Amino acid sequence: MSTLIELQELSKAFGDLHVLRGVDLSFADREVTSLIGQSGTGKSVLFKCMMGLIEPDQGRVLYEGKDLHELDEDSLAEVRRSFGYAFQDDALFDSMNVGENIAFPLREVLGMRKRRQLRERVAEMLDWIELPGIEKKLPSELSGGMRKRVGIARALAIKPKVLLFDEPTSGLDPVLGQTINDLVLRVNKELGLTCILITHDIPAAFRISDRVVFLHEGEVIAQGAPAKVMRSDHDMVRRFIENSFSSTEGA
Ligand SMILES: Nc1ncnc2c1ncn2[C@@H]1O[C@H](COP(=O)(O)OP(=O)(O)O)[C@@H](O)[C@H]1O
Ligand SMILES: [Mg+2]
Repeated sequence: MSTLIELQELSKAFGDLHVLRGVDLSFADREVTSLIGQSGTGKSVLFKCMMGLIEPDQGRVLYEGKDLHELDEDSLAEVRRSFGYAFQDDALFDSMNVGENIAFPLREVLGMRKRRQLRERVAEMLDWIELPGIEKKLPSELSGGMRKRVGIARALAIKPKVLLFDEPTSGLDPVLGQTINDLVLRVNKELGLTCILITHDIPAAFRISDRVVFLHEGEVIAQGAPAKVMRSDHDMVRRFIENSFSSTEGA
């Protein structure tokens, strides 16, 4: 497996709040990695640094071996086009219908202008998430699970190489959560994308991931294959995992 993204000694503070404290991580091409850990521990900030949306105070982000910080504007824009980002709350534009939502990054990021091309790509994405023909619906007319899927379709529309999912199952019941986790796996297996997700669904993280990374107070305290992280003897990791499995029993 070749390394697609590498984070070296990444640090980021907001004022006195040291959110990331020297994170070293690498993500292999075409793998599924889950980032887990308590709320407020820097997971979303890590995503934003990876996409070049937040500039780290120290350290480097390498994409295909290239340091984002050293790229000129055009090359950085190209790297950004390799990333799709499915937001924590699906963040669809409420005033736009589904078709316009999915077309938005096609216009803004790819500069796609031809109506037919836009229409075809939107239809292709809706077919792929198994919601064909809902172009004219408004986000408010969709269920929570459908909105999440449309958010993922929008992130996929530009055909990125990496898809970042920030809590894709939050707010969904377990059954709907499962359909979204299955969708993550399809993105990885059928489209061959590198998938990195932040999730609170710990059993799912262990089930669908090639690698699990545990972040605690801005540091990586456990990482590796699910079976390895599951056996971690780090107290914090053990308690977190035990609690998440016991709280889902019988649910
Ligand atoms: N732009 C920002 N300005 C100031 N503080 C921020 C900013 N973004 C995140 N933070 C703070 O950084 C910490 C980590 O946030 P985040 O990465 O969102 O946590 P999580 O692990 O829950 O995703 C939180 O305390 C959050 O309030
Ligand atoms: Mg977050």
